[in-house]
Amino acid sequence: MRFHVLTLFPEAFAQPLQFSIVARAVQRGQINIDVADIRDYTHDAHGTADDYQFGGGHGMVMKPEPVFEAAEATLSAQIPVILTTPQGELLTQKLVEELASSPAIAIICGHYAGVDERIAEGLATRPVSIGDYVLTGGELPAMIIIDAVTRLLPGVVGSPESVAGDSITTGLLQHPLYTRPAEFRGMTVPEVLLSGHHAEIDRWRRRKSLERTLEHRPDLLSTASLTNDDRRYLAGLGYAPPDAGQVEGRGADHAQD
Ligand code: 6GU
Repeated sequence: MRFHVLTLFPEAFAQPLQFSIVARAVQRGQINIDVADIRDYTHDAHGTADDYQFGGGHGMVMKPEPVFEAAEATLSAQIPVILTTPQGELLTQKLVEELASSPAIAIICGHYAGVDERIAEGLATRPVSIGDYVLTGGELPAMIIIDAVTRLLPGVVGSPESVAGDSITTGLLQHPLYTRPAEFRGMTVPEVLLSGHHAEIDRWRRRKSLERTLEHRPDLLSTASLTNDDRRYLAGLGYAPPDAGQVEGRGADHAQD
């Protein structure tokens, strides 16, 4: 997999990609990360890559010419061209999986108040946001995309099971994990994990996943694949699945307001 990054801050990519699993994937040739400096494609002495907004308003806008020229000089063939922007499609594990099936992807890192709309219109094929908050630039989102995609590539993470069993991939949050020591500062590892009883352990883990998902991400429960056992357990915790036949909330009451 080849990642082409187009950025005004190429130096941001040096350190973060030089440790652990992503660095090993680079060393093994499983991924290539080409970082192009958009400023190299400016034509004035100051390397101007941004300008004021037409129509007025606060914040500078990334100019189209250097970004188009950087893309034309570094990208070949028809590959997905991601634009990092809070206005994009939300990055989910499903989108990460889709990107991982491509032999190469390009990521244009938005910066300042945003990019000229013609970059989104004529160059980017995929505007992507990493969440409902605003960052100063698209460099961290680009690294997040690279990290999430890389760990899905064959042979990058040690065991395929650890990727298949991922939190989120399964539709539920991950169960708690413990390692030695069995007792640490008075805090103990749940007995069942020390029992060697695999069926019991699986059941305990499943239930913890359900509990956590209900507590932190109840929205995931409506799409997770749940067994009847899961449903019974969740019902015991007070979870009432949204009923498709019923209108949610108190619509009738509000209608009279
Ligand atoms: Cl991709 N860029 C910026 N600047 N802010 C963000 C974002 C991206 N995703 C969430 N917030």
